[in-house]
Formats: sequence, structure tokens, C-alpha cells
Amino acid sequence: MENEKLIKMLNRDLADEHAAIIRYLVHSYLEGEDSTIGAGLLSRTREEMWHMHWLGMIIGRLGGEPDLTPAPYPYDPTNRKTIFRSYVAYENKLIPHYLKEADLMDDPHIKRVLQREAWESEMHAKNSSGPTTNSLPNKLKAFRVKKMNCRSPLLRNYKTLWK
Ligand SMILES: [Fe+2]
Ligand SMILES: [Fe+2]
Repeated sequence: MENEKLIKMLNRDLADEHAAIIRYLVHSYLEGEDSTIGAGLLSRTREEMWHMHWLGMIIGRLGGEPDLTPAPYPYDPTNRKTIFRSYVAYENKLIPHYLKEADLMDDPHIKRVLQREAWESEMHAKNSSGPTTNSLPNKLKAFRVKKMNCRSPLLRNYKTLWK
């Protein structure tokens, strides 16, 4: 693929990742990082930051300039369920998109990055089914039992939230 065309393509992907970072970060702030949903979204934001970072590094290496204008992130704000449904749609759309781009690549590093963006988008789509239960995940329950007397305000919040 011609260099200029490749830079343009990667910049469009960068904009999509940028949009995802902003959306999940804003949502995590609204939920609060001491809630299961907020913490999950915050952790996903960090993964999206890696996605953006890998693309930005490749664009720079190709002699291009990373365009930091985010793409739109369409979502239905009616309620949590519709918001998470929008996330599933957004992430699902990226899977075939990245795989198709990866197939066009000769450079093994760029191919690998695009494949990984596809795989992790799939993981995000699977983890976006949204809040279905209010119960504490087993892993955290075990943690809570061990650390219940810890002075951390975060853990105190867990105690209140999930009792
Ligand atoms: Fe991503
Ligand atoms: Fe994602």
C-alpha cells in the first residue's frame, strides 16, 4: 500500500480509538472508579490508549503526522443498557474492519497491531453486555474477605456498595 494512503488509513483508525478513549473515560468518571462499572470502563480506556499509541507510533515511523481529531462515537444515551448496547455495536464494527486492514499489510508489525486491535475489540464487545447483576464478582468477594479491615477508602466503598 502506498505510504500516504497507509498513513491516511491509520489516522482514521487513530480517530476511532481516540473516540473510544473519550467515551469510556467520560463514562467511567460518571460511574466513579470505585464502582465495578466505572473501574471496568477505566481499565478498558487504558487498553484503548494502547491501541491509539500503537497506531500513532506507526504513523510517526512512516513519516506521517498523527491527527488527534477524534471521530464521533455514536451511542444511545437513553439508559445504561442502551449505552452498553451502543458500545457492543461500536466494538463489533471494528472487528472485521481491522481484520480486513491487517490482511492488506505486508509489514508484520503493522499487521500484528491491526490484528490485535481486532481481537481486543472483540473482547470489548463481549465485555460490553453491561450491568446485569448487582452482586459482587467472586474474585472481589475473596479479596474483600481478606482485606476487609484495610483502611483504603476504596475498599470501604466496596464494603458499603456491595453489602
Ligand atoms: Fe480499541
Ligand atoms: Fe475497544
